[in-house]
Formats: sequence, C-alpha cells, structure tokens
Amino acid sequence: MMEPEWLDIGPVSQLPTLGARTLPVRGGAEIAIFRTAHGSVHALVNSCPHKQGPLSQGIVHDTSVTCPLHNWRISLLTGQALGEDKGCVPVIPVKIDSGRILIGRAEALAGLGAVAA
Ligand code: FES
Repeated sequence: MMEPEWLDIGPVSQLPTLGARTLPVRGGAEIAIFRTAHGSVHALVNSCPHKQGPLSQGIVHDTSVTCPLHNWRISLLTGQALGEDKGCVPVIPVKIDSGRILIGRAEALAGLGAVAA
C-alpha cells in the first residue's frame, strides 16, 4: 500500500492564533507547528539553527518566530535566521484541507535522518 503523501495532524481550530504545538515524529526530530496572527500555519523542525533551542516556545511575530534561548529570529517561511544571524532549519510543507492541518510526509520524515521507515 502506498503511504499517503500528507499526514493529517489535526484540526486547525486546536492551534490558537500566535500559538504553537509540537509534534513528535517517531524516531527523530520533533516538529513545531505555528499559527500566525493572519491565520497561516507553518511547520519547522523544532530546533533552532543556533543551539537547538525549542522554537515552539518562542514568540511568533508576523511570519517569524523568536527563539526563546538567545532571541534569534527564524523565518517561518524559509527556516532561515533573519538579520545578522546565519543558519537554517528545515521547513515542512503545510496545507489546510477542510479545516485540518496536513504536513508533507516525506519532509516530516526527512528531518529524522536515516531511521525513517
Ligand atoms: S538556540 Fe536559538 S537563539 Fe540560541
């Protein structure tokens, strides 16, 4: 059987505006899902490119999140550190279908290194 291309991770309504939740992925990197003030939903590997701070605990502002550890700002669109800082965290594609959040399966698993089934 073919694996579905998109993983359904639950209703958008469970993700508060300017909130974030985390999604453990079996065997690997946790994913952080964010909702901006405009209602768009974004997913990144939950690990700051600086020193692996938990981005899900940062503050969302426009389309970036500020890392809770040392205040790097990371773009939710590209995963790039903004301003003077350099670094990038993988972005997971997201789409909304009938009020449900779907994330790209291959990319979600790609953050995990070789273990992904
Ligand atoms: S770990 Fe995120 S800014 Fe240092």
